Amino acid sequence: MFGKDFISIHDFTPDDVEAIFELAKTMKANPANYRTSLSGQVLAMIFQKPSTRTRVSFEVGIYQLGGTGLYLGANDLQLGRGETIADTARVLSRYANGIMARTFGHDVVMDLAQFATVPVINGLTDLLHPCQAVADYFTIREKKGNLRGLKLAYVGDGNNVAHSLMFGATKVGMHIAVATPKSYTPDPNIMKLAKADAKIFNVKVEWTTDAEQAVRDADVVYTDVWASMGQEKERARRVKIFKKYQVSQRLMSKARPDALFMHCLPAHRDEEVAAEVMDSPQSIVFDEAENRLHTQKAIMYTLMRR
Ligand code: CP
Ligand code: NVA
Repeated sequence: MFGKDFISIHDFTPDDVEAIFELAKTMKANPANYRTSLSGQVLAMIFQKPSTRTRVSFEVGIYQLGGTGLYLGANDLQLGRGETIADTARVLSRYANGIMARTFGHDVVMDLAQFATVPVINGLTDLLHPCQAVADYFTIREKKGNLRGLKLAYVGDGNNVAHSLMFGATKVGMHIAVATPKSYTPDPNIMKLAKADAKIFNVKVEWTTDAEQAVRDADVVYTDVWASMGQEKERARRVKIFKKYQVSQRLMSKARPDALFMHCLPAHRDEEVAAEVMDSPQSIVFDEAENRLHTQKAIMYTLMRR
């Protein structure tokens, strides 16, 4: 059952995730039926990092539900001048009906959730990107009809997106294989939790350094940038280390013939993904981006319409 907040897919049951998918599907098919669902409600949107998709999809999404989004950038709040997260959460709760936050430390979102009396939605932290993974599995479900027993291969950096995809896979009944260089593995604690869930839900969560091994029999091949927000200074070094993890046409050919290519975006063509793969018919990256809107509308509706 959903609690107050949306912080990590690890917190949800398979039924919770399925309920979001079903609602998102209905909302996507009949958006007009939900025009006044969150009438007059305000979503405060804290962004300590930049964003195209998250910012626009949340702002448009709350608007389409009858409410308003309030963009609060890195320099717009007193946080930068030492006001605590706890006080910020308490104050925003007096004005807004929900808070969406994109932060560096995951603890910032956790603290917001602890001290806010309104729902808090994780719009990406250094550790997790749950809204992305929900949209991703919803997109695969749309394309393939069902998810149970399918395999997703994630190739690249063991980052926030990889973590949420691992948590999500177990809840939707998919196998996931993650291939990263040895020094860029997913967080061991996340891996442990995902593997424990994999046992419960009877799926495989695997890690390897071998990209070809990961994509074998994969229905979906997924990658993300090699240097995430906050790691810009490491970019040149990472580009060298990650070179053999590029999702090339050759790597795609080792997956299933009908394999889909996904990327949370923004993408760097000819770094983590070859331009010819990114722009191929197998690539569903823009449907994936669109579905951020529909799934997040379902998330806001679920948390804020109480
Ligand atoms: N995928 C994603 O979250 O994109 P933005 O950084 O543009 O929000
Ligand atoms: N891993 C990337 C995802 C961007 C949506 C980052 O954190 O920058």
